Amino acid sequence: MTAAGEPLLRVEGLRVHFPIRRGVFFDRTVGHVRAVDGVDLAIDRGTTYGLVGESGCGKSTLGRAVLRLVEPTGGQVLFDGTDVASLKGEALRTMRRRMQMVFQDPLGSLDPRQDVESLLSEPLRAHGLGGGTAGIAGRVRELMDAVGLPSAALRRYPHEFSGGQRQRIGIARAISLEPDLLIADEPVSALDVSVQAQVVNLLEELQRRLGLTYLVIAHDLAVVRHISDVVGVMYLGSLVEQAPSGVLYDEPLHPYTRALMSAVPVPDPVVEERRERILLAGDLPSPANPPSGCRFHTRCPWRQETRCDDEVPVLRELAPGHLVSCHWAEEIRDGVLAPKSPEEVAAIQGVTVRATGAEAIESDALVQGLDEPIERR
Ligand SMILES: Nc1ncnc2c1ncn2[C@@H]1O[C@H](COP(=O)(O)OP(=O)(O)OP(=O)(O)O)[C@@H](O)[C@H]1O
Ligand code: SF4
Ligand SMILES: [Mg+2]
Repeated sequence: MTAAGEPLLRVEGLRVHFPIRRGVFFDRTVGHVRAVDGVDLAIDRGTTYGLVGESGCGKSTLGRAVLRLVEPTGGQVLFDGTDVASLKGEALRTMRRRMQMVFQDPLGSLDPRQDVESLLSEPLRAHGLGGGTAGIAGRVRELMDAVGLPSAALRRYPHEFSGGQRQRIGIARAISLEPDLLIADEPVSALDVSVQAQVVNLLEELQRRLGLTYLVIAHDLAVVRHISDVVGVMYLGSLVEQAPSGVLYDEPLHPYTRALMSAVPVPDPVVEERRERILLAGDLPSPANPPSGCRFHTRCPWRQETRCDDEVPVLRELAPGHLVSCHWAEEIRDGVLAPKSPEEVAAIQGVTVRATGAEAIESDALVQGLDEPIERR
């Protein structure tokens, strides 16, 4: 047992590299996609850690590695003080019960041939929980009640529900084994905007009632801000900034976070009118061949020769709980360094200017033909 003050989850130097294979006759490894490349983070019990970043920066891979759905290449995942990689057999099963996942697409994660009763009782039976048949039936009704669905819906199948109701079933399934940690990967991004807030509220209510700890992954900064105690921003497999939610949104220090924040519309029309957009030059570089030095240097308006190109910045604490990985964070914060225009950055790097954030993600979804709906507030 660990002390109550210890974080429930501690991730240390986590790396997940996927081999890139080529060749018809000989299966050769020609490189690696560095999906997660040295991430440290900790999540305190009963709190929510929000993870944001552009598509492809490694958020889902990090979540899957914590659950050991993918095998890490290096580093450690300590859950309640235990190294997850060291577990086998019954110990791994028990640990798995304590960590559950809420998926973006509940229709894809729920077996269409099972009715809700069967979907919710299956985990209890598999783990020998809930007592006999009567006990399991009672527990299933409790779960329906907890997620705000009528027991009359137990005989229905996933396709008979709306997206929001399906996500409630996904959440009921995830909490059925009374886990300590829930990893929610884009839990509301497939839902209508009008339903998103209801599902976020349900997650918050369940956290309060059940003392759950959350890792919430989302590209929507508004969702993460609302629900998180601490927010981490990922870029190309690494954390570039981490801070208490309010602090990160009020005073983002890393140039990438600043660009992401500047793309979020503000409800106040006067502030919105004056809002300055930070446009970034170029696209997200390939995680198979990340830039040297600071990985953001190919797009950063504040890049300084030659330190940014050569030296990897460490994630360091600038204020209590506020971590930033930028060589020049203080100078940027104090206005000592002026940013270059995106056109200047683009000219130096020989690339084109583009926006980042939610609109860019939507734009990418349209041109790349992403097969999932993307909604934002
Ligand atoms: N099983 C896999 N094999 C090879 N490459 C993978 C695999 N899973 C993910 N990747 C690659 O790893 C990188 C990170 O992917 P990941 O899905 O973790 O990103 P993400 O931040 O969750 O993106 P999104 O916001 O689009 O969900 C991407 O370049 C992706 O193509
Ligand atoms: S280290 Fe340099 S390139 Fe990286 S974010 Fe800071 S200023 Fe930009
Ligand atoms: Mg993802």
